[in-house]
Amino acid sequence: MSVHLKQDKPDTANRLDDMKQGVLGEAIPRVEGLLKVTGEAPYAAEYAIENCAEGVLVTATITRGEVISIDKDSVLEMPGVIAVIDDERLTTRAAQGTANEAPQQKPRSVCYWGQPIALVVAETFEEARDAAKHLKVEYREEEGAPVDPSAVEREEQEDETVNQGDLAHAMAKAAHSVDVTYTTKGHASAAMEPHAAIADWDGERLTVRASLQMLNYNISELADALEMEEDKVRLISRFVGGGFGSKLGISEETVAASLAAMELGRPVRVVMSRQQVFQGIMRRSETTQRLRLAADEDGRLTGFGHEALVSNLPGETFAEPVLQSSHFLYAGENRELRLNVARIHQMTAGSVRAPGEAVGMPALEGAMDVLAEKAGIDPVELRLRNIPEENPEEGLPFSSHKLAECLRQGAEAFGWDSGPRKPRQSQDGEWWVGTGMASAARVHNISEAKARVTLKADGTALVETDMTDIGTGTYTILAQIAGEMLGLDPQKVLVDLGDTAHPRGPGSGGSWGAASVGSAVFVACKAIREDLAKRAGASEDELEFRDGKAASGQSITELLDGETIAREGHYEPGDIKDDFTASGFGAFFAKVRVNRFTGETRVDNMLGAFGFGRVLNRKTARSQCLGGITWSIGAALTEALEFDPRDGHLVNCDLAEYHVPVHRDVPDCDVIMVEERDPAASPIQAKGIGELGMCGGAAAIANAIYNACGARLFDYPMTPDRVL
Ligand code: MOS
Repeated sequence: MSVHLKQDKPDTANRLDDMKQGVLGEAIPRVEGLLKVTGEAPYAAEYAIENCAEGVLVTATITRGEVISIDKDSVLEMPGVIAVIDDERLTTRAAQGTANEAPQQKPRSVCYWGQPIALVVAETFEEARDAAKHLKVEYREEEGAPVDPSAVEREEQEDETVNQGDLAHAMAKAAHSVDVTYTTKGHASAAMEPHAAIADWDGERLTVRASLQMLNYNISELADALEMEEDKVRLISRFVGGGFGSKLGISEETVAASLAAMELGRPVRVVMSRQQVFQGIMRRSETTQRLRLAADEDGRLTGFGHEALVSNLPGETFAEPVLQSSHFLYAGENRELRLNVARIHQMTAGSVRAPGEAVGMPALEGAMDVLAEKAGIDPVELRLRNIPEENPEEGLPFSSHKLAECLRQGAEAFGWDSGPRKPRQSQDGEWWVGTGMASAARVHNISEAKARVTLKADGTALVETDMTDIGTGTYTILAQIAGEMLGLDPQKVLVDLGDTAHPRGPGSGGSWGAASVGSAVFVACKAIREDLAKRAGASEDELEFRDGKAASGQSITELLDGETIAREGHYEPGDIKDDFTASGFGAFFAKVRVNRFTGETRVDNMLGAFGFGRVLNRKTARSQCLGGITWSIGAALTEALEFDPRDGHLVNCDLAEYHVPVHRDVPDCDVIMVEERDPAASPIQAKGIGELGMCGGAAAIANAIYNACGARLFDYPMTPDRVL
């Protein structure tokens, strides 16, 4: 039986806080943690499938043009080689950036250096890799493909454009004004588990074990790419070693493994190399951002301008949504916002962790620091003065808003000194020491979701959905929600995820996963409670179970009397989406030291305070925040994709050359979770959490660098050569 909830109004009567199990929000360890640390949790490439052949992708070595011929005979005689798959469907993959986009690339055409064009299949991985290196491919190359975003025409993304009042006039009349331009480099998702798939074809049905974030959408994508019926395809992704956007859509390894398995009639595994993932999957676009801020004598914004240039391949619809939270974060009645896309022939730009705010907020919050200095106002105070009452562009109310509390609680816990600030005031040996802060904001996304909950006669429960756990804690929070609602220890709730045989979840992306699928589980559990209440001759809100028993002594198993209750919860965000502006907010504080001689920056201490609705598990939520802070350190100091200006190919395509923060770079960080319920964000009053921790954090470090040594930098990452 399916129960549908379309949310059209805030759910203020939500009773999760009154349930008796008392487990929701608790910092319980991941329920699948033991499987992971003992190596028993199977990742996509790890299934022991009999008679499995191995495939290695071959990638293009031109920037733009066509594949004229692939000389299969050049490798078919090599040891162990079984086949070369060069089916056109291999290159017709959908755009990575957004869900629900049609494939954009023309079959057989090459749009970027590193684009997969064929698959070599052999008995062993080594044989396949060797043959892939020897495959002869003939191209027709089109010279002069543009790879420099500043040298091509721009396409304005008109739905992002805002022209409100007269910003130029506000700037001219302002007591204090800032007009600065920031740049950010491209970023890689670089998930720990590279892309991989094992496809198995039984002559009628295809089963693919793959590493994916959104099975609910990926199954349609794969069926489309293979020109098959969706009900003939099953996708399995029980464990995913990180995605960070790179696995939102299917990629060539999944399509190629499927094509090969169907052609050869035996299972085929394709595992991408780290370099192939870097070069072929997707990038976060580099950005150039002009910020204009106009303020009165007291630092209150009268004008706000944010203009950004990003890039993508011709025809791709995704544009890094740099302005996403600029539309509502700060007041200012005169507004000008514009997002432009440059069309270049570098690999697809798509959603990389916190698309938009991850680079937009560090620019905006850097500019706010410049304004605070010009106006002689404490940076925390400047932000407090500019929190709008409502969305300054649409006039919509906020669903809930904890920026002020985050700023205050964060400043207090960090020991923020609100006295006058000047660079180079503190020195420790050869190190300048400084502090900086920034606001955090990330829009709240929510999505349709389905989940089936079964309460069994023995008093255990089962939760089933094709939702994924990409390392974020989905298994655990769903056991907590069901446990809380049904009055069961979460140990008694088995959560079964990552299989398209189950009801369709929301997928993991855009920080919408927990609130969306959590709401579907909530809806299903509520319906089960109603059934239990009928059996007990009571009303649903009178039911109080803890560890399967009511205080009266009556137990769930007695009420079930040998029966099972199964309900499918179907949650849909309704009109409420248009009635509120919903966002997570927060504040970052950082203390850094900058070496006077080498320009090296070390982060001494970093703190984030966040308000993001109900917290479902304080441990997994905190881990998400720490991950975000770590990304912030990388974005501030080291992470940068470097492309060859001649042909647009990615030069630093592994974790030795693309520098993410390592253990030594990440200090002990503090996370404050500001208590909040958001009844308009979701029926469980939770908002997105995952990505907020990196939306602005880089600016806290940049502003601390300035405070430490006086180097006001406008280009991320702030490597030693720039600091000196
Ligand atoms: Mo996230 S970049 O939407 O996985």
